Amino acid sequence: MHIFYHEQTKTFHLCNEEISYITTVLPNGQMGQLYFGKRIHDREDFSHFLELSSRPMSSWTFDEDKFFSLEHIRQEYGLYGTGDFRHPAVEILQKNGSRISDFIYESHDILTGKPPLPGLPATYTEAPGEAMTCILHLTDPLTQIGLDLFYTIFAKGGILARSARFVNRGSDSVWLCRAMSLCLDLPDSTYEWLQFSGAWSRERHLKIRRLEQGITAVDSLRGHSSHNHNPFIILKRPTADETQGEVIGFSLVYSGNFLAQAQVDTYNTTRILLGIHPSGFSWKLEPGDAFQTPEAVMVYSDRGLGHMSRTFQGLYQKRLARGYWRDRERPILINNWEATYFDFTQDALLSLAKKAKDCGVELFVLDDGWFGRRTNEHTGLGDWTPNLHRLPEGITGLARQIEALGMKFGLWFEPEMVNRDSDLYRAHPDWLLQTPGRHSSHGRFQYVLDFSRPEVVDHIYDKMWKILDEAPVSYIKWDMNRSITECGCAALPADRQGEVFHRYILGVYSLYERLTRAFPQVLFESCASGGGRFDPGLLYYAPQGWTSDDSDAIERLKIQYGTSFCYPVSSIGSHVSVTPNHQVFRITPLHTRANVAYFGTFGYELDLNQLTESEQDAVKAQISFMKTYRRLIQFGHFYRLSSPFEGNVTAWMCVSEDKKQAIVGWYRVLNEVNAPYSRIRLQGLDPDLYYHISGTFTGKPTACYGDELMYAGLSTSDTTAGELPGGEPPCCDFDSRIYLLKAD
Ligand code: DGJ
Repeated sequence: MHIFYHEQTKTFHLCNEEISYITTVLPNGQMGQLYFGKRIHDREDFSHFLELSSRPMSSWTFDEDKFFSLEHIRQEYGLYGTGDFRHPAVEILQKNGSRISDFIYESHDILTGKPPLPGLPATYTEAPGEAMTCILHLTDPLTQIGLDLFYTIFAKGGILARSARFVNRGSDSVWLCRAMSLCLDLPDSTYEWLQFSGAWSRERHLKIRRLEQGITAVDSLRGHSSHNHNPFIILKRPTADETQGEVIGFSLVYSGNFLAQAQVDTYNTTRILLGIHPSGFSWKLEPGDAFQTPEAVMVYSDRGLGHMSRTFQGLYQKRLARGYWRDRERPILINNWEATYFDFTQDALLSLAKKAKDCGVELFVLDDGWFGRRTNEHTGLGDWTPNLHRLPEGITGLARQIEALGMKFGLWFEPEMVNRDSDLYRAHPDWLLQTPGRHSSHGRFQYVLDFSRPEVVDHIYDKMWKILDEAPVSYIKWDMNRSITECGCAALPADRQGEVFHRYILGVYSLYERLTRAFPQVLFESCASGGGRFDPGLLYYAPQGWTSDDSDAIERLKIQYGTSFCYPVSSIGSHVSVTPNHQVFRITPLHTRANVAYFGTFGYELDLNQLTESEQDAVKAQISFMKTYRRLIQFGHFYRLSSPFEGNVTAWMCVSEDKKQAIVGWYRVLNEVNAPYSRIRLQGLDPDLYYHISGTFTGKPTACYGDELMYAGLSTSDTTAGELPGGEPPCCDFDSRIYLLKAD
């Protein structure tokens, strides 16, 4: 890893073994983008990468010159209104009504390591040699607004982290109306665009389309990153696939409104913009004020999508997630939500907990309904005191009883919300996000507390702190069940209302920061009606997230497969639930429900007391299996083998660091009659190791070299296809298998 600065040409070259990123000071003093991709040689002068030619209808920067046009030049951080007609990275409204700015290079700093972003989640280093950072200091001479562009290159992997910081060194206030975290101009547009989209219970489905001249974008204006689109996109060469070819992933470390956009211009260059959504956003910068954008992370891979994903997964698992639980195997939990919903008593909870303990569960999680007068969706949110009618000894008493059984205790909160029928709302009706004179829409009969106000965050912190201080709580599920509407803050003046969405998210981050500092051993799981805020921003505080409210194993194939493009297995909350499933009413075999849930944090969300004895035995075996293999699954290297978006069979695998162990999950949605022979090519193994294969499949265990398994493939043909040989169970719909590989 190195950052070269070439004084004569004022060119910066950030590189490691995998990538080069090159930017230069242009003749007009602004920064130009020259290259991002596979590592190339360093040299003093890369100006041949600048493509300039005289074209009609362009506007030219210099008098008597028809070559230097901002329309043709790839910019480092595109500016509005001076000849670059693509969407800009920044727009600043000034006192005189102008939105034009001109950021000129002044100086730079090159640091070892990576500075933190105040108040914001970001990737980090633990030793100085892990990364280097280049900060370009630019200034707009007219307004004296300073712009610092941050670039961190990590020593390992094709990773570049970026952000921008504005400082008002002028004497007038200005309003930032657009401040993207990342702008990247690529020289061509021969890419496919991959996005991870859907809806509640259908999160992060992979969608692919070709880039064309014009705009391709995903976004959120809901106040949270959303079920609908994830703040993560990929550009991939059309011929690239899982194992080969060029791809670039772009991920925003942020949990609020975002925009991820590609714009292909007249000359087929592609501009990627990633950052806070400019719609509805403005931030007043008084003289002396600063504004820091969230971080954006780019990963380049010339070894296909799989390598890119493993780079993101490794970075986000080890250098974005933090704290006690970062490197620890996740407890196997039981959550009472789908078992009881709001309808529980302490006795019912304890009976579920006893059965769970008997099966080997390690953590009992009490979900919604334990506080205030919360017995349905209409009441109680905001009143974070235990309901003593339901829990006579409070949370402390229940938690102690659970601990006495030999399990840890976890608790659900929805800190950002309030019902109108609550003591909190009656005491502070002005604490909602709302706009004067406008009707306030509800979502699930609840309203959003104004977390842009520190006193609101303080109040919730005190309430949560009291419970966590008194009761032995080891885990918190932090839920968030509606999008933000009629967004407005009673405590801010009119010209700062554009700040509220972002200030809200900063308030959420500050509450997470305070709680995780005060209770460092508590495991936080983020949740927003399932996967409505499954993003890198929250991974910084909560190392795992409830992936989706859809707990059906077959639906989960697409959801977990899509999620794996950016996020580590250890972050993917996954439970075995009852059949018929509560979301799609599908009946799937118990072994398939577990075989899918293994590839995540693993737990149960059903009434174990309702299972038959043989099902309870199966649950015991599943839990014991997961305890044996969870380090391999949650902290191994993850490979996607067969896509649920392309066919009837999904497969994925995890390989241990030393490649001596691997586990393959294989899932077939519909059974086939007299099915063709089939095999699946494994990945990530050591070609020279001899692997013994066992697992939950019918047919004979066998042994193969890694190269056989990777290049010839593992046979997955059905032994029961065609005529049934004696004694073997027939295949069925929604079938699945686990293959275990162990080298000598
Ligand atoms: C939505 C979550 O996704 C569910 O798991 C559950 O916690 C409910 N909220 C409780 O209201």
